[in-house]
Amino acid sequence: MPRIYIDGLPYEADSRQTVMEVAAANGIVLPGFCWHPKLSVAGNCRLCAVQVEGRSWVEISCNMPVAQDLKVLTDSDIVREYRKSILALTTLNHPVDCGICDKAGECLLQDYHYEHNGAPSTSHEVKVHATKFHALSSRITLDNERCVLCSRCVRFTHEISKTKSLGIVQRGDTSLVRASGDGAFETDAYSDNVVDLCPVGALLSRSFLYKSRVWYLKATPSVCPGCARGCAVNLWHRKPEWKLQALDARHNRAIERITPRDNPAVNGPWICNRGRDLAPLFERERATQAICAGFSVATPAAIEGARSLIERARRPVALVSSWASNEELAAFAAALGRHFTVFVKRDREPEPGEVVADDILICADKNPNSTGALANFASAWGPGSTLPEGTDLLLVWGEGFDLAQVPQSLRTIVLDAWKNPGHARADVFIPVSIQTERRGTYTNFEGTVSGFEACFEKDDSVAHAEDLFAALAAANVAAA
Ligand code: SF4
Ligand code: SF4
Ligand code: FES
Repeated sequence: MPRIYIDGLPYEADSRQTVMEVAAANGIVLPGFCWHPKLSVAGNCRLCAVQVEGRSWVEISCNMPVAQDLKVLTDSDIVREYRKSILALTTLNHPVDCGICDKAGECLLQDYHYEHNGAPSTSHEVKVHATKFHALSSRITLDNERCVLCSRCVRFTHEISKTKSLGIVQRGDTSLVRASGDGAFETDAYSDNVVDLCPVGALLSRSFLYKSRVWYLKATPSVCPGCARGCAVNLWHRKPEWKLQALDARHNRAIERITPRDNPAVNGPWICNRGRDLAPLFERERATQAICAGFSVATPAAIEGARSLIERARRPVALVSSWASNEELAAFAAALGRHFTVFVKRDREPEPGEVVADDILICADKNPNSTGALANFASAWGPGSTLPEGTDLLLVWGEGFDLAQVPQSLRTIVLDAWKNPGHARADVFIPVSIQTERRGTYTNFEGTVSGFEACFEKDDSVAHAEDLFAALAAANVAAA
């Protein structure tokens, strides 16, 4: 293992690493637009340059192999001067329209300019203009004036999503990123990752365009429930201290965007487009009214009704949710598991037009915690499953089961978060909280457990399933 020296300090390196990789692995941040740990080296922005001790020139660290006793300087006079000149060159034709750019606040050009240059433009010439608002796809708009031609987006489609759907056309200061003419970028199920990859505000999500300044938003760590991969994501929503007073209050509970949260054990730094589109799924009309025998009741009365049904049942069956957290499932198992015959139900199936599965991230099971549920309860409910003989009570937790399938004489309890006219058929309906209102964990199809945090408070009339099962347990114990 070669030992190298960065600014005089020794670091152990792998002989296959570059200086940039050794620096990154040791928490040393070298500037760079084009380098990305998951993409091949392009070496085109030159910003990561360092000086090898004893040499009077600079060289790029992202393409510099390590060697025993290599000594590099990252902050010498000529390195600082070189970086400054590269940034001056980069801003020569850049519009510097940060005031209307969605990337402002998380833009590498802004950050590097303040850290390594800070000087006004040296040019008095008119800037070269290029296309703005170029529709790269129905999801992404491209501002060519802001593009620094790092080629991260191009390499992503060649190396990660494999659609080879982006390229750079023309030369010099007329170079443009463009999509291939075959529509492959439009159908690339991972295309939106280029928005995160773009170091500047050249690639922008059309669904987030001009929605909010990023500094008004808070990123809550979460897990995508879109499939059994359970990708680590951030849910971005209004910071409590920046809540809007005048506009529709729903904006304060809106998920403004969903972005990947790097988890090497699950998804790395990527997610699929479907995962980014799940905000409307969370923001469907909620069920907040408990129902007993067709009448609206307060939630405690509905809980009492459910207790009484459970107490009287001799052969109760439960279809538990594969969108429930491990903690909720454990609470059900502890409180009611011995009393009920339990089946794990799939709450969601692939929707028309949705990518069912691929060999990158997307899994065919569109539920985040089937594995966690089946670890608690071994039997799965599937097409063709029937209720055991003599079932006298059915508890349905979550979506994906229509009560019209069972005889009306069967007593039923339904726990769900979303409004559904079918709830009125249940003897007892109790509204429960959703993932964005509680913390918990899911186990993905490979057995990796990932946690999520709450973004919003739940409504008072809505029950947390964990508490609810504990409340129902007393009835079960009394009956046993
Ligand atoms: S659009 Fe962004 S990611 Fe693509 S080459 Fe330009 S700056 Fe790089
Ligand atoms: S691959 Fe699955 S878990 Fe990951 S973002 Fe897409 S839908 Fe969500
Ligand atoms: S990061 Fe090394 S040349 Fe761009």
